[in-house]
Amino acid sequence: MKDLLKLMDLSREEILHILDTADQMKYSLKHNIPHQVLAGKTLAMVFEKNSTRTRVSFETGMYQLGGHALFLSGKESQIGRGEPIQDTARVLSRYCDGIMIRTYGQEEVETLAQYADIPVINGLTDFSHPCQVLADLMTVREKMTRLEGLKLTFIGDGNNMANSLIVGALKCGMKAAIACPEGYEPDEKVLAFAKDFGADFQLCRDPKEAAVGADVMVTDVWASMGQEEERAKRVAAFAGVYQVNEELMALTNPGCMVQHCLPAHREEEITTQVFEAHADEIFEEAENRLHAQKAVMALLMGGAQ
Ligand code: CP
Ligand code: NVA
Repeated sequence: MKDLLKLMDLSREEILHILDTADQMKYSLKHNIPHQVLAGKTLAMVFEKNSTRTRVSFETGMYQLGGHALFLSGKESQIGRGEPIQDTARVLSRYCDGIMIRTYGQEEVETLAQYADIPVINGLTDFSHPCQVLADLMTVREKMTRLEGLKLTFIGDGNNMANSLIVGALKCGMKAAIACPEGYEPDEKVLAFAKDFGADFQLCRDPKEAAVGADVMVTDVWASMGQEEERAKRVAAFAGVYQVNEELMALTNPGCMVQHCLPAHREEEITTQVFEAHADEIFEEAENRLHAQKAVMALLMGGAQ
């Protein structure tokens, strides 16, 4: 494994190995066990979209591993003035030991990885959000003690989060269900991947159908970054139906968890009541970004096996 571009590229064993390493990272941090396995190394972080969690968790994580992270804003670097991604890849490879990038098209990340000699980590594209879903799987396994056989249900837009959750959950032996309006389905590559899992994958219109028997309920915003102009149209398509609320939670299995990658829009995709009732799980999920990404960096950048 040279890069982390999308979960589809990883085997089940590779995903579980990252999760095990992430658990160790968390344990080491909580018990003050030194783990500066990337001392002297640098990570370039390219952001073409906004971020709070991704930026802070990567930068803090790199520092805790003994290395250094550099923030490069798409707008302020030469990327914003049209320098080809192929050249950026080769330049950063001469200075740094890894690149984390948050951008629009998945193909940009794939091209960057193709031209870079150093590991590339996808910090979110329109297609996928693998780091977030590794943290989600870590959080679910921590609370439920296993992944195998559990049902994960996603309510809302078939976006980057839905794409990565479906792939990650199915690869780890979970069942996956999504309820979304017509025209807002997950990417067709994800649907083709999920087809091989037969009845373990459900694509529903009715959120109630998807919620029945769920062990983990997940949702995300109706309009993602880059879709600001579609907001009104999207609100009309999702409002009143595609929301994680008490009524939907009543159909899930006892002890069902709730996950949200954040930022959340209360009273849109999730009610304040459900959000606050599950806030511990949601903020643990946010914390686990740090541990999961430290594991990814250590494994890819030479600090762990
Ligand atoms: N969940 C997530 O990726 O958050 P940020 O957009 O704040 O990085
Ligand atoms: N789907 C959201 C996730 C943000 C972390 C977006 O792409 O904006």
